Order: sequence, then structure tokens, then C-alpha cells
Amino acid sequence: MLDSDPRQSQFILSSPAKINLHLEILGIRADGFHELAMVMQSVDLADTLFFKANSNARISLTCNNPRLVTDEKNLIIQAAQLLKSRSGLPNLGAIIGLEKRIPIGAGLAGGSSNCAATLIGLNKLWNLEYTPIQLLNLATELGSDIPFTMKGGSQFCFGRGEVLEFIDNLKIKAPNLAILIIKSPETSVSTPWAFKQYKEARQNQYLTEESDFDLRRQILRKGQLTLALKGQAPFPAIQNDLQEIVEEHEESVRQGLNLLKSRTESLAIAMSGSGPSLFALFDTLESAQVAQFQLAVTLRDQGYESWCTSLLSHGIYLDDCNE
Ligand code: C5P
Repeated sequence: MLDSDPRQSQFILSSPAKINLHLEILGIRADGFHELAMVMQSVDLADTLFFKANSNARISLTCNNPRLVTDEKNLIIQAAQLLKSRSGLPNLGAIIGLEKRIPIGAGLAGGSSNCAATLIGLNKLWNLEYTPIQLLNLATELGSDIPFTMKGGSQFCFGRGEVLEFIDNLKIKAPNLAILIIKSPETSVSTPWAFKQYKEARQNQYLTEESDFDLRRQILRKGQLTLALKGQAPFPAIQNDLQEIVEEHEESVRQGLNLLKSRTESLAIAMSGSGPSLFALFDTLESAQVAQFQLAVTLRDQGYESWCTSLLSHGIYLDDCNE
């Protein structure tokens, strides 16, 4: 089953992080997940995954960051096991190496992106020939953000987050845009916790009708953020419905947002996903780097790590596995 060409039996994939440029909670679904309207954006802060064939039917994962679990709780192992069990080929094995750069538990979808890269990588390594659509369906089984991280770029994400619509903006404006991300290494936020808190506080405002959900999707598609991403309007304030909830509980998020607000030249600031990562959006990578440099002492004194990175127009990239 393994490819006889040695160049195909081991390779690496880049697994980029994402930020949320919009996260709107519309209501609750019959399956218990929230109905969302989001804009997600890939960024050039990426982990690297290394794949090598293993003939002893075992799947192993090693990581340069000892804080990361490498057992079945890791989405990489879950993706590998799902792919292997669906293939009906019990002898498949793989050695997977992960070089972690994306902060863990940060709202940047590092784990989801690693999971998407594993589906793409092992599909190739094991010659399974699943189509991109089949891989996206497997991704949906594993988590709400995983389909986005597989396709990446700049997308509207509806439903649980898995219903994707590509925003054709990147040729025009977005490649120049860049962000400064900050995060307190001491803080991490549980996504189920954040959604639960939001539900307890706002359930009485949830929309219930599909026609109302659809209206919100239309408003987002035609709204100022979409125009801004195309370079046709100034950036509006970024909406992240989870931000207020997390800000109330996490001092480092409150303080970090105030810190970023001091950069008046930034186009917008927000928390990403369920946090606690925060970002400021800039016109160019140079402006983001200047802001990082000028904030360096304050960031260090207040205990934040920081990263400057451009926006990306793609997700996990493997020529014949992506449409
Ligand atoms: O799908 P994923 O495993 O990433 O979701 C993690 C948790 O976040 C879910 O178990 C749920 O509590 C919450 N969530 C939600 N609605 C969504 C996505 C996630 O309530 N659309």
C-alpha cells in the first residue's frame, strides 16, 4: 500500500493558525452546538508536521513541546486513527513529528490545523485517495474548525463552523495585511466553557428561525468587513461574541486588549476564537513589527508573548489534495 517512491514515503506539511475576523453566535442547534456566522482567516504562523511511513502498523507522535499530550487526546492521533479505521487497512502505520510554534489552547486553532494536516498527510502517505470533499467530511467529524483549517485563506464559516464560503478578497487587499498577536502564557481558555458561559448569559436573545439565521449570513456577506477585506471600505470594529464573556473572567485578556488599543494606527483589534489570544490588525507587516518593537518592554513587563505575522491565502497545502 505504501508508495514505493522514497520521496513520497516521507514529507513535511505546514499547518497554519487562524484568527477570527468575525464570530457571531446566532442560536443553538438541535445537536447542541451553536449556530455561528464567522469570518476566519489563515495566518502565517504555522506548525510543521513530518510524516514517515511505518511498516509495523503503529501510529506514533512526537513533539518538540513537552507540554503537548501526544496520546489519543491529541487530534493528530484521532485523525490518524479515524483515517486508518475507515480505510479498513489495519496494517497502516506512521511516524508523525510535530514542531509546535502556534501557542497551545490559544484560540488560534493550532490543534485543529494539525488535525487537518494529518488527514491530508496520511491520505497521501497511505495512498488512500480520498477526495478533498471526503477529507472535509472526515474533518467535520473531528471538530468544528477543522474543515476551515484544511481549506484556509479567508472564508465565511457558517453552521457549526464547517459550512465554508471562500471570500475572494486576497488578490486585492488582504496579502498586505498583517497582525500582531499577544497572549499570556499563563492563560488558556476552554472553548466549551466559553460557549456555556455565553449560553447562560444570552440564551434569551438567541435567534430560532432559519430565516433569521439566513438574514444574518446575508448581512455578513454584504457587510463592511467583507468590503474592508476587499479594500473597498475602512475596517469596522471586529465582533467576537465570546470576547465580553472571556474578558469578564480573564484579567490578562482585559489588560491585553487595552494594551493593543494604545496602538491607534491599527485597523482593528479583537480576541481570536474563545481566546485568550488577542490580535491587532495592521496595513503591512512592517507596521505590525514596529508596534511589536515599540510595545516590547510593556509586553515583557506585563508577561505577554507576541508574534507578528502576515495573512495567508491558503490552508494546508498539498498540490493534489486540495482543490
Ligand atoms: O467542534 P469542537 O470540538 O471544536 O467544539 C468544542 C466545543 O465548543 C463543543 O463541544 C461545544 O461546547 C462548543 N461549540 C459550540 N458550537 C459550535 C462550536 C463549538 O457550542 N459551533
